[in-house]
Amino acid sequence: MKVTVVSRSGREVVKGGLELNDSATAADLQQAIHKRTKKFYPSRQRLTLPLPPGLKEKPVVLHYRKALKSYVEENSDSITVVLKDLGPQVSYRTLFFWEYVGPLFLYPVFYFFPVYRYFGYKGERIIHPGQTYALYYWCFHYFKRIMETFFVHRFSHATSPLSNVFRNCAYYWSFGSYIAYYVNHPLYTPVSDLQMKIGFGFGLLCQISNFYCHVLLRNLRSPDGNGGYQIPRGFLFNIVTCANYTTEIYQWLGFNIATQTVAGYVFLVVATSIMTNWALAKHRRLKKLFDGKDGRPKYPRRWVILPPFL
Ligand SMILES: NC(=O)c1ccc[n+]([C@@H]2O[C@H](COP(=O)([O-])OP(=O)(O)OC[C@H]3O[C@@H](n4cnc5c(N)ncnc54)[C@H](OP(=O)(O)O)[C@@H]3O)[C@@H](O)[C@H]2O)c1
Repeated sequence: MKVTVVSRSGREVVKGGLELNDSATAADLQQAIHKRTKKFYPSRQRLTLPLPPGLKEKPVVLHYRKALKSYVEENSDSITVVLKDLGPQVSYRTLFFWEYVGPLFLYPVFYFFPVYRYFGYKGERIIHPGQTYALYYWCFHYFKRIMETFFVHRFSHATSPLSNVFRNCAYYWSFGSYIAYYVNHPLYTPVSDLQMKIGFGFGLLCQISNFYCHVLLRNLRSPDGNGGYQIPRGFLFNIVTCANYTTEIYQWLGFNIATQTVAGYVFLVVATSIMTNWALAKHRRLKKLFDGKDGRPKYPRRWVILPPFL
């Protein structure tokens, strides 16, 4: 089969085109393009069918496992595909590792080192028990997230643009430092002993539940990441689509009950709004995939992220 690869402006990307066998898939084509143009490794390529001039619709994206033949008329043995360069890509493991490693190491800097001298506080700093527990709680959370990234999550094969590493690191590293600055501050006023115990106790319970939610999500896929998207079931997933986000939000609420800083609550609000947007999209995707038609199961009635509100 003759394949012509053009850019979005119509320029030929692989000079002279490519010759592939009739059973070749889009993944085989990506490999062949990579062989000819070293810069475009497969995850950097987005392959679509060309749109007729003037048409404003979204183009058909080639699925990597589908045969190229399935995109052309029965007797045709040639195809033109449009290649979009997605830019440098990284795996989700790399992205997650870098975003979590910052808060894990930056937070203890504010606890252990005399950083407040540089902000004009010369006096002796008394460390309250709540500040010490907050350090353990914080580090446990980010250590857990890194361990889950490497040993629990079964990511699909998607990658993320390299630029997201910088964006996400800016988000996690700056919020981490912002919260650490106030919770470890020499003028910090601790909450009552009871409030601290309720906050950390509740938060820890939510962290453990969050871990269990991640284990349930992991079991929806085979070890090589195949299996696509399934209906999550069991534990809190029987009530809410994104139970992992619900428990994540509540564990930050627990941390904030125990530490009570404006910085911590600002983070809670921002994180909740981000996760709510993602949860709405994930809920929509599952409802679309499991529409109850043509033998497909129907997605059960569930809350999206924060029962009984959403
Ligand atoms: N503090 C914050 O601002 C913040 C924000 C977001 C997340 N988080 C934390 O980070 C964790 C991971 O976040 P995330 O957005 O990566 O979570 P996620 O997309 O819901 O899921 C984590 C893993 O489970 C897989 N998965 C999800 N739904 C699935 C389904 N229906 N069928 C099969 N596999 C499924 C995902 O696959 P794919 O690889 O295909 O996605 C991914 O590998 C969250 O649970 C939360 O604890 C924190």
